[in-house]
Amino acid sequence: MIFGACYYPEHWDKTEWKHHARLMHEAGLNTIRTGDFAWGVMEPEEGKFDFSFLDEAIEIFAKEGIKTILCTPTAGPPKWLVNKYDILQRDRYGNKENWGARREGCANSREYRKRSVLIAEEMAKHFADNPNIIAWQIDNEFGCHDSTRCYCENCRKAFSKWLEKKYVTIENLNKLWGTVFWSLQYSSFDDIILPVYNSCEPENSQSWSHNPSLDLEYRRFSSDSWVEYQKLQIDAIKKYTNKPVTHNFMGHFSDIDYYDLAKDLDFVAWDNYPDNQWGDSEYEYVSMAHENMRGVKNKNFIVAEQESGPCGWDTMGSTPEPGQLRLWTYQALAHGGEGMIYFRFKALPYGMEQYWYGILDHDGIPRRRYYEIQKTGNELKRLEPYILGAKNKYDALIVKTYDNLWAHQIKHHAKDFDYRNMLYSYYKANADLNINTAVSVGNYDNYKVVYMPAYNIVHTDEIEKITEYVKNGGTLVITFRSGTRDVYNNLFTSTLPCAFYELAGIEVEEFTALRKPAHITGEIKSEVNIWCDILKPMTAQVLCTYTDRYFKDRAAITVNSYGKGKVYYIGCDLETTAMKNLIRYISKKAGIEMIEEPHGIEIVQRDNCTVIMNHNDFAVQTSICGKSLINGENFNGELDAYGVEFIVN
Ligand code: GLA
Ligand code: ZN
Repeated sequence: MIFGACYYPEHWDKTEWKHHARLMHEAGLNTIRTGDFAWGVMEPEEGKFDFSFLDEAIEIFAKEGIKTILCTPTAGPPKWLVNKYDILQRDRYGNKENWGARREGCANSREYRKRSVLIAEEMAKHFADNPNIIAWQIDNEFGCHDSTRCYCENCRKAFSKWLEKKYVTIENLNKLWGTVFWSLQYSSFDDIILPVYNSCEPENSQSWSHNPSLDLEYRRFSSDSWVEYQKLQIDAIKKYTNKPVTHNFMGHFSDIDYYDLAKDLDFVAWDNYPDNQWGDSEYEYVSMAHENMRGVKNKNFIVAEQESGPCGWDTMGSTPEPGQLRLWTYQALAHGGEGMIYFRFKALPYGMEQYWYGILDHDGIPRRRYYEIQKTGNELKRLEPYILGAKNKYDALIVKTYDNLWAHQIKHHAKDFDYRNMLYSYYKANADLNINTAVSVGNYDNYKVVYMPAYNIVHTDEIEKITEYVKNGGTLVITFRSGTRDVYNNLFTSTLPCAFYELAGIEVEEFTALRKPAHITGEIKSEVNIWCDILKPMTAQVLCTYTDRYFKDRAAITVNSYGKGKVYYIGCDLETTAMKNLIRYISKKAGIEMIEEPHGIEIVQRDNCTVIMNHNDFAVQTSICGKSLINGENFNGELDAYGVEFIVN
């Protein structure tokens, strides 16, 4: 199993490499991930390649039994490149994104593409037969620092071609986008604009001021641009080697369609920083990210960068407490991780990330974090057979598509509505009941309950598939705004909930964004703060009604029997406890077994074992007992602060 650390030989004096390799070996690490951002060393002048530092370092680490994952360095174009070629992105206001950090290249710049392919190809030629390289990574974190969408002229031209291919005639595009509104018709594809700053956008605003079809298509196009850019590098590498190729994704990040980005890769890798300068994540949020990363290919993944120390760019998050590095490692592995690479081996005294600590501090002396990783590595030797190739037993699915994320970013529907939070609230309630929940698309049949909250853009084939699923006995949960938009981001004109009308067995007679709270009563009680759909049951049965104002006694939550299955319609937002009550109610009816433990206890059911984790900083007595796979002894259910157990099923 891959168990390693990110290590950048160019950051250290050569004389230190051997010592670092020794320390890594002693910690039980067997892989380094390297090369990302070393373009300036690999190609110090245009066309002059020098990989000797990597040859030497890879060899030194190999002598300690440590293999290499080699990354292409294209997220950090060197100065000579930007001096000679205009590869820099433009923002919504037409400003050039100046060089001086990273990720500033435009995916549609011909020169950036050309130079990227060249360096990838030179690397592949050079390292193809190196037996110490076990995998390749393309670039680094596509889209980070808000770099997915560029607004330069190259992008505009490429977008117009992309649209022409899709819409064929400009008349067709005008009709499907409704450009007649405000006289926004285009005469030809050359006329196409990008959704840049315009008269409707208040300055410094994040709100979107364009035709919603244009906005959505630009997001799709920008995502495709990076998929294409990545593919160019993959092809260059695959000409010379068959070793697996990956890219490091960013979990919940949603500007690039990760299903598309993953298609051309052999496996997914991702970067997990639960607690850093920008926030401290709830454990369920991290689990959801892991599930999302497993879900993009429906295949186990690796963690390419795992937080291993305090970290941030100018301020730091907190230092992982004793047990947390081990816990985070097992949390990843429990949700489908098959490899773990910590970021970074040793903290660097200079550069933007001088506060981004790793396994070792700046003085390089092994301390608590190093020894905890060493201990985890030793345990993993025993646990490996339960991790490699293991599958989870899922009961529920949260359907996540990027079209939906984007459509909700473009039109928020209501002031405090946030689609990502909504998806998370459904995941979290399931996780808190220890229901194994996948985050993915497709194959509904594998799940007892499928959630499509506020699933506003629905493709026809999805409706057909989900209808079949329900007919055959599945349970579908939809909510306000589900089924309301077509693939061009226009609203359907049939009666709400439009695409789900037949399945839901209700009509949404009226709806309102809320200026003051409302309440529901019935099977679930809750305050409602954001949105109310006022429902008229057709064939559905009412589970909850409102208690306020003109919609008092009108239906808020319903369930409809359809074929052998059931469709729940949730017409309003719910408080946290009510959400949990709802999920408990639905899951019970769907025959899902739940395990309720004190908050912070996470239980993941795998095909070959059960993983129990305590995310609390205090010991907890759980109801789970069994034979420990970690030490072979009897586990009596008590977990230490941040404790973990793997038990035999
Ligand atoms: C990301 C990048 C790394 C590093 C870390 C810390 O995950 O992939 O190169 O910059 O963040 O900021
Ligand atoms: Zn561009």
